[in-house]
Amino acid sequence: MKLNQSAQDELKKAAGKKAAALVEEGMLVGLGTGSTASCFIESLIERCRAGLKITAVSSSVRSLDIAKAGGIPVRSMDAVTSIDLTIDGADEVDSKFRLIKGGGGALLREKIIASTSKQMVIIVDESKLVDTLGQFGLPVEIIPFGYNATITKINRAGYMGTLRKKQDDSIYLTDNGNYIYDIHAPSRFSEPEKDHDTIINLPGVVETGLFFNLPLRVLVGRKDRTVDFIT
Ligand code: 5RP
Repeated sequence: MKLNQSAQDELKKAAGKKAAALVEEGMLVGLGTGSTASCFIESLIERCRAGLKITAVSSSVRSLDIAKAGGIPVRSMDAVTSIDLTIDGADEVDSKFRLIKGGGGALLREKIIASTSKQMVIIVDESKLVDTLGQFGLPVEIIPFGYNATITKINRAGYMGTLRKKQDDSIYLTDNGNYIYDIHAPSRFSEPEKDHDTIINLPGVVETGLFFNLPLRVLVGRKDRTVDFIT
């Protein structure tokens, strides 16, 4: 049974609410990016309005704007060396809890925040659980300087893709002023650590959307409307 858009939105809201319930008084909370993370931020705003005292750091300007508009006190990441709990979405999750992220273009800040967090909860619907990463493709953040040379190096390493563009056909810019090269699906990353190492070592590549070794729990929203942690 495939869920329609409004059922999917309800599931994201339910998952966001369950994730927001994990936030405790006094925590410094990492805010992810994307439609699912936005549902979490909205639920966190409700809890803050009901009296919860927390501070937050944001993985994107988009999430920062939502949090600030809702009255969540947001700190600059420049002054932070440890985050209590980060809650974010993902594009794919495998059985070893390795992730593909970056569909929303925030992978670099998301990875900095994730790797600074003592705990992380990823919220996804069950369609994002995969046996082998890669069906979504792989977003890679690259610097604009010499980007065609960088893309050629990525291609020569065996990964074909597309430079991310906006609807008006201009090049998509990340919050860091960089570009995103979307390695095409279906690339299959059966050893994603090796793929990450190959790509990240190419000059001009800033970060890949492959995330590993995080203190991660995964909260899954299912078609039957249940939202639970998987182990
Ligand atoms: C943004 C991300 C998002 O978490 C990912 O794309 C999932 O987004 P959504 O919850 O909208 O499906 O990595 O860079």
